[in-house]
Amino acid sequence: MKATISEVENFWNSRPCNIRHSKKDIGTKEYFDEVEKKKFFVEPHIKSFSKFNEWNGKKVLEIGCGLATAGINFAKYGADYTGVELSSESLELAKKRFEVYNQKGDLYQGNAENLSDFLPDEKYHLVYSWGVIHHTPHPERVIEQVSNYLTKDGVFKLMMYASNSWKNYMISIGLDQPEAQYGCPIAYTYTEEEIYDLLSEHFDVISIERDHIFPYQIEPYKRGEYIKQPWFDVMPDDMFKVLEKKLGWHLLITAKLKGD
Ligand SMILES: C[S@@+](CC[C@H](N)C(=O)[O-])C[C@H]1O[C@@H](n2cnc3c(N)ncnc32)[C@H](O)[C@@H]1O
Repeated sequence: MKATISEVENFWNSRPCNIRHSKKDIGTKEYFDEVEKKKFFVEPHIKSFSKFNEWNGKKVLEIGCGLATAGINFAKYGADYTGVELSSESLELAKKRFEVYNQKGDLYQGNAENLSDFLPDEKYHLVYSWGVIHHTPHPERVIEQVSNYLTKDGVFKLMMYASNSWKNYMISIGLDQPEAQYGCPIAYTYTEEEIYDLLSEHFDVISIERDHIFPYQIEPYKRGEYIKQPWFDVMPDDMFKVLEKKLGWHLLITAKLKGD
């Protein structure tokens, strides 16, 4: 049976995403600096996908901001930023982060399946969501809600997990799990065709790209050491890159509202 939204909320409250990316005192500038450094080291494609600097002066809405690692960057580069997050524990840290860096952002706690219940009726130039919509019981409801918040020419950029991916094959034989934290209640995966279907009622998909295979051994990684798995260590970089482009875990989707 499908997990409920309360189970999803409890899970992310019990261990907000990336909270262990630093061992410094939680909520300090040093802590947030390390969280950002680690996130962008492990997921460097976030920067090239989100293009933080291109949204200067534009209105950006993030669905599932977590600790606001992306959010703080949109704000630093001059976007008028709004973040929405289901987990109050994560949102408190996101608020703290904006305070610590003296940045402005509007942050709302709530379930993105019911955005209009708590988010004022406004239009955004970009709606951005990184690794979130596959964790909610009804992704199609989030997609529908998002369509009401975009300007006519606005862009919807989202990352969703890929089913035909190296990681998912490893999960299927019990050698991996979707999240760092054990027991994630929902982590749907999608083929490219399923993404087209999910979005097709409201959006035209502009592009879907692939990236991300995590190459490091887990135990050293938890201690902050980056030691590759032996099979990735011997693999030439261009071979690994092509594997990421074909079998990466992250589907990088760009979409626009359907034309009239
Ligand atoms: C894997 S984390 C990603 C967080 C953030 N986007 C990042 O990249 O650091 C998934 C996040 O989605 C949030 N989430 C899941 N379902 C949600 C929903 N229905 N509405 C809002 N946020 C949701 C979780 O609370 C969690 O913080």
